Amino acid sequence: MENHPIAPHPIIGWEQTTPVPDGHQFNSYLQARNGRLFFKDLDLTNLFTGDGVDQGLGRTLPSPLEIVYLPLIRRQIGQMNAIFEEAIAEVGYDGRFLYAYASKANAAEEVIRTTLGAGAHHEMSSTIDVDIARLMRARGLLPPERMVICNGFKAAGTLYAANIVQFKDEHANLIPVLENLDELAPLLTSGKPFDVGLRQKAYGPNLTEAAMENANSRFGMHLADIWKAADYIAAAPNLTLTMYHAMVGSQMIDKAAFVDYLKPGIEVYARLRRRYPTLQIFNFGGGMPVAMTLDFTFDYRAFARRLLTTLQEICGRYGVPVPDVMGEFGRYTTTDHGAHLFQVIAAKDNNSDLPWYIINGSIMSSFPDSWALGEHFICLPLNHLDRPFQQVQLGGITCDSDDVYPPKQSAAPLYLPVETDGLYLGFFGIGAYQEMLGGVRGSKHCVLPEAYELIVDRDGPNGWRANGWREDRFQFEILHGQTPQDVLENLGYRAAGDAATR
Ligand SMILES: Cc1ncc(COP(=O)(O)O)c(C=O)c1O
Repeated sequence: MENHPIAPHPIIGWEQTTPVPDGHQFNSYLQARNGRLFFKDLDLTNLFTGDGVDQGLGRTLPSPLEIVYLPLIRRQIGQMNAIFEEAIAEVGYDGRFLYAYASKANAAEEVIRTTLGAGAHHEMSSTIDVDIARLMRARGLLPPERMVICNGFKAAGTLYAANIVQFKDEHANLIPVLENLDELAPLLTSGKPFDVGLRQKAYGPNLTEAAMENANSRFGMHLADIWKAADYIAAAPNLTLTMYHAMVGSQMIDKAAFVDYLKPGIEVYARLRRRYPTLQIFNFGGGMPVAMTLDFTFDYRAFARRLLTTLQEICGRYGVPVPDVMGEFGRYTTTDHGAHLFQVIAAKDNNSDLPWYIINGSIMSSFPDSWALGEHFICLPLNHLDRPFQQVQLGGITCDSDDVYPPKQSAAPLYLPVETDGLYLGFFGIGAYQEMLGGVRGSKHCVLPEAYELIVDRDGPNGWRANGWREDRFQFEILHGQTPQDVLENLGYRAAGDAATR
């Protein structure tokens, strides 16, 4: 956390008993208008009630409801590209910035189609990811010049290794990044002309090369193997070393520490570059933080400047040219675009310290990090914002004692309107990892069916452009939720006399 005093707890919503003032802007995309919450210009309550302005949906939707707001993905990519472009000009950096989307954060079709449409390179981690890229390529959504970076374990004999070798025929700009020496063999024997990356062993706050060497990390290679791999690649007629991968961790919230942790990797890059002039890209992987609560800020501009000047300093010291800089943005790309909306179906006092509000879905299976990691997400009412608030605790509809919010160990208070009649609420900032961890379709905790999903876009290929939002009308796509029959069939139930369905 930077640029403001450290809050005693994460701010997850409205923290007062008084109503929210009209026009109050909670963050860059959530605003109170006439007692209701708007997601950019979308009246969220209207999706359920149909009252107020006609938003072009043509129907109401059942709750719970997942919202996917694609223009925010474009905004994130556009903003980070602009930040690095500015920093490159400011510090006179002689290299490019390359934005890659880390697809593990959210592999849904509408997300991948949007990141590719916004010009992002593509990072992947498993064999099905290759199939996704193949489909995107066949649809013309993955242009030939776009880099596809293959991270993850891909030893000889695995489906992933074979699929990468196969996909090379369809997409030339494919860069496997070696996690391990044994990943070299399938590339060597393929005879195909691969650009290759090397991933260093580094995870967490490894401030020196020695600490990096001793880090307890299942990712990447230690130094001796990095050099060995580089030698093998240089000797192979079909392989070219082009990328160095130095991811240090996830959600790096201190910009100075983030760059400091990258320094040993930059040193190794520079030394390798002296011996292997084909090396051209320094990839810092993921870790770019993003606000999941209302108090979090991060100075992205300062981070970009600091990273570029550090690269200049270290490469200058070794007498090698600065590299192109790549980041693999997972959480940063997709956190904001996803929300999950619920209705409060019961309020009970039960002689508890705080009243319980019960929602018509599960907190723990909708965003598992809230109970598994005690992670905070933004939680706000969709209506009654112009009424008094009170501190409450929220319960999901499952029978699980962990299905609560705020997380059990949290000090963050949650305030919601006292009036619970027809009250809807939303969790925001849940677009990264949560859906992939909770699973799509299938069977869920307490056999709750999966919610409807509303994909929202705005006219044209860019709902958001570098010079601001387009005020075009919304485009909606509805994905139906699971029916009771879907859930039953998935679990192997069938009507008497019917054949088993699985
Ligand atoms: C190799 C690699 N790149 C990128 C990412 C994305 O990280 P983040 O979501 O912090 O951007 C991850 C996440 O685990 C990763 O393992």
